[in-house]
Amino acid sequence: MAVHQNRNNNNIIDNYERMKGIVLHGGTGTRLRPLTYSDVKQLLTIAGKPTSEYGFLQMNEIGIKDVCIVIGKIGGEEVKQYYGNGSKWNSAVEYVFQEKPLGIAHAISLCKDNTGDDDFVVYLGDNVIQEKLVESYEKFQKEKYDAFLLLVQVKDPSRYGVAEVDGNIITNLREKPKESKSNLAVTGIYFLRKPIYQYIEKLVPSKRGEYEIMEALQAMINDGKRIGYKIIKGWFKDTGTVEDFIDCNMLVLESIKENEKSENLNIKGTVKMGSNVALDENTKILGPCYIGNNVKITDSFIGPYTSIGDGCVIKGIDIENSIVMENCRIEFQDGRIIYESIIGPSCSIKSGKSKTRRTKLVLGRDSKVEL
Ligand code: TTP
Repeated sequence: MAVHQNRNNNNIIDNYERMKGIVLHGGTGTRLRPLTYSDVKQLLTIAGKPTSEYGFLQMNEIGIKDVCIVIGKIGGEEVKQYYGNGSKWNSAVEYVFQEKPLGIAHAISLCKDNTGDDDFVVYLGDNVIQEKLVESYEKFQKEKYDAFLLLVQVKDPSRYGVAEVDGNIITNLREKPKESKSNLAVTGIYFLRKPIYQYIEKLVPSKRGEYEIMEALQAMINDGKRIGYKIIKGWFKDTGTVEDFIDCNMLVLESIKENEKSENLNIKGTVKMGSNVALDENTKILGPCYIGNNVKITDSFIGPYTSIGDGCVIKGIDIENSIVMENCRIEFQDGRIIYESIIGPSCSIKSGKSKTRRTKLVLGRDSKVEL
């Protein structure tokens, strides 16, 4: 096996079987409503990038250039518009449509023709991990596991799918166990091979009416197949809830290394800034923060842990630990604080009669609010 660098300094691994990728963009995203009434959750941005793009780029880094994206009824066209034919990422992207959110295993099964005989990585589009995939990829291929999962140590295993392990092998998978010997939660990144499809075909819907990938993997274990694992270092986030989405924003911003090379003394800490950002002398930014392109900010305090999307206009406000998505207009005269909030794309928030100084908001696209 050889790992070499391509022109973009990405690791490309050769000498293994060709691998493909699957990125899931289906589901209903009920826990992220109202944002997911209008937007598909995997395209909601953190530091200017859809959550699914973090996984997409990770797969790209290990040389996966053929990606099948599963889209559902919510926002499927927007996903197609965003990823297009994949050429922007030097990849080839195909789309399959999941008419109903019948489960992760069902979504994967729709990609059978696309993956063909190749091995593949499945990435849940709302999962973001810090660790690179290269070590897992090497282990999966070198040690010839039938499947391979990325696990993460958690404090409260009863909230997750949990893996029990013995040596290098997963011996048991349990969904949200009340009590567990293991604190290893299963993340949404699976290395799989073609035979998984046979196991998915035999599934019946679970109590919640879904075809469960955990059941297919457990059936493999019961059949004596070897499922390997890696306990990831660094952080992992499933961005399925408002709290987790805000936490993920914080973790992503903490890992930003670039700093705005600005003479502006009002910018402190690590701030990644796009082009054409206009800040007046009354505005202070305290990183870690991300400010997108074509943003105008006056009389405001931004940060720490705040992402501001492209095209926003912001005036007279303190924003902390929040995500403001693209093309929002937030304008106040009387100094207010927005904290721990998610403001969806193209929202408008302005002064009203309220006397509340500190506000926490979750707003879906195009919301109009007076405070
Ligand atoms: P979940 O977060 O478990 O489900 P959901 O997206 O429907 O959200 P909620 O529980 O808040 O209603 O899904 C995990 C990932 O798998 C997510 O990226 C969406 C994707 N998914 C599909 O692509 N198809 C499906 O049928 C299901 C259930 C999920």
